Amino acid sequence: MNSTATLILGVCIGTLTFSALAETEPSIIPLPQRMELHDGSFKLRSDAKIQAGPDALKTAEFLAGTLRKSTGYPLAVVATDSASATKDANTNLGPEGYELSVTADSVVLRASTSTGLFYGAQSLLQLLPTEIFSSQVVANVNWQAPCVQIQDWPRFKWRGFMLDVSRHFYNKSEVEQILDAMALHKLNTFHWHLTDDNGWRIEIKKYPKLTSIGAWRSGVGFGLASNSTAAYGPDGRYGGFYTQKEIREVVAYAADRHITVIPEIEMPGHALAALTAYPEFGTGDGPFEIPMVGGVNPGIFSPAKPETFQFLQDVLTEVFQLFSSPIVHIGGDEVPPEPWTHDAACQALMKKEGLKTPDELESWFIRRIEKFVNAHGKTLIGWSEIARGGLAKNAIVMDWIGGGREAAADGHDVVMTPTSFCYLDYYQSRDHSTEPHAIGGYLPLQKVYEFEPVPAGLDPQLQHHILGGQGNLWTEYIANLKHVEYMAFPRLAALAEVTWSAKEARNFADFTRRLQLENKRLDQLGINYRLYRPETRIKVGSWMPSQIKSTPSAIEWDVTKNVTAEGTARVSLDYTSGACGINIDWVALSEDGKEIARDNHTGFTGASPRDSLYLLKIPAPKPGAHYALRAQVAGFGGTDSVGDVFWDLPPLSSKP
Ligand code: ACM
Repeated sequence: MNSTATLILGVCIGTLTFSALAETEPSIIPLPQRMELHDGSFKLRSDAKIQAGPDALKTAEFLAGTLRKSTGYPLAVVATDSASATKDANTNLGPEGYELSVTADSVVLRASTSTGLFYGAQSLLQLLPTEIFSSQVVANVNWQAPCVQIQDWPRFKWRGFMLDVSRHFYNKSEVEQILDAMALHKLNTFHWHLTDDNGWRIEIKKYPKLTSIGAWRSGVGFGLASNSTAAYGPDGRYGGFYTQKEIREVVAYAADRHITVIPEIEMPGHALAALTAYPEFGTGDGPFEIPMVGGVNPGIFSPAKPETFQFLQDVLTEVFQLFSSPIVHIGGDEVPPEPWTHDAACQALMKKEGLKTPDELESWFIRRIEKFVNAHGKTLIGWSEIARGGLAKNAIVMDWIGGGREAAADGHDVVMTPTSFCYLDYYQSRDHSTEPHAIGGYLPLQKVYEFEPVPAGLDPQLQHHILGGQGNLWTEYIANLKHVEYMAFPRLAALAEVTWSAKEARNFADFTRRLQLENKRLDQLGINYRLYRPETRIKVGSWMPSQIKSTPSAIEWDVTKNVTAEGTARVSLDYTSGACGINIDWVALSEDGKEIARDNHTGFTGASPRDSLYLLKIPAPKPGAHYALRAQVAGFGGTDSVGDVFWDLPPLSSKP
């Protein structure tokens, strides 16, 4: 839409009412580009009306609908002519920008697109008391917003969230709840990871077995409790899929929230669910079976069979019809080389095409698919690996393990999702004893907040190729929506700020201040989140393979400066790398060589740690004494593990 749309709320009061200052400072997330706070506030009254120009009516109805639910006010939407609506509009804020002016007697929202208006409405909602997000009428709330002038626009055009619905399944209504949470944070791209080894989740009419077989497995898998999910079919199998009707509904629901849905159909790897249903398209003879665990599996599509391409093209043809997005994700990550190197037909194909490595064969595969995708007016996006054997011409690279800078330098568009800043399946704390079991890693909120999507060293002239960033949620160990939300928030709010707000304006302390109201908003919306608290653990040491023996022996770390008070020290031994782990017999503390505390339980630290937190009751420290932490450990399955030792000694709560 070219005309400028305006939305004016509550111009019915002529008198200036400089009511009390708002109780709290504005806490908009993501932080607007420009915001001036003025004295006074706008009070939303029951007789307020929303005037909207022709192009603003839909957003006005959206805003009115939200406001009505919690205020109970009628809030009529009144159509105005476009001439008065566009008066004084600023059209320089880009396709997603908006201007919001809150004064004591009116709220005026202007944008050059309905997307900008929608984002302005989100900011306005965040200026009102958090009860505005209640789904029921809330009495006795002073519905006022502080007077502000905001001019706002996003830094990046791709502000994404990826959800893996293959490892675990979330139904249509659950996906829509996630879209609502994205919209609140002005995130605009939902990357829907619809297929993988553990389940195929999209109905394809031409290949019904993809969902009758490929969408179901014998149980929840991944070592999770069967009651951690309700996603069971009538026959008791675990799984589910979206019908084409549901897919269209989700795409429309997202569009109403100015979110583009990018479908991902994984190829040539991560294809076991598809191959369980249609083994004839695989490398090797099969049979294939949907696994109950994650990892990189050998069940991959065969590029040497013309019928494989026919199948994938048929699937993509249906996908193109379901999704309005001009961009389609075809995966391309983690293709194990062995199936192709051991397959005579693939070897013959490589010889015929002059391809020297499996990477080049993958590239050949991707380029062939890209031709088909482009011929249908769509653009292909794939994970880092699609660039390895020569990048398909117009492809967009989604960088998770590098290659983004090189691809951008080569003229490709890039979306940055590096594991070290964007993998929301990683632990949010180093203290695993207080977190749900996760895949591993460590990605605290502050680290996400410090993410810089533009790779270091990229020529400024080429930075426009960095479309933005995205949080990825792989769901091996996440079987239900509440757990999805816990992993996503507040880290996804931090990513929203990274991708929307000005780099220079980012300030973690201010972000965590704003989180207090953000959390109240999420409470109103019924969205689960992790309560942010700074990491209080201190790293007091580490161990190297040279210190680990196959029989039990003690390792010692100096903690003299860490014994600061009487209390209970929480000590954890956290494996970080190596093929093996260590069994732990006990952890103890000595004062000038004499043991004063010990936790005698057995634990293990490795890829799947168990009981690796030790509690030591510490008496009041003796000035000048030397304190040593000791642990008796033995390598398990080998002695190559590396890890860190953490110490947390919270002060005893003050006595009355
Ligand atoms: C990925 O995490 N395998 C893209």
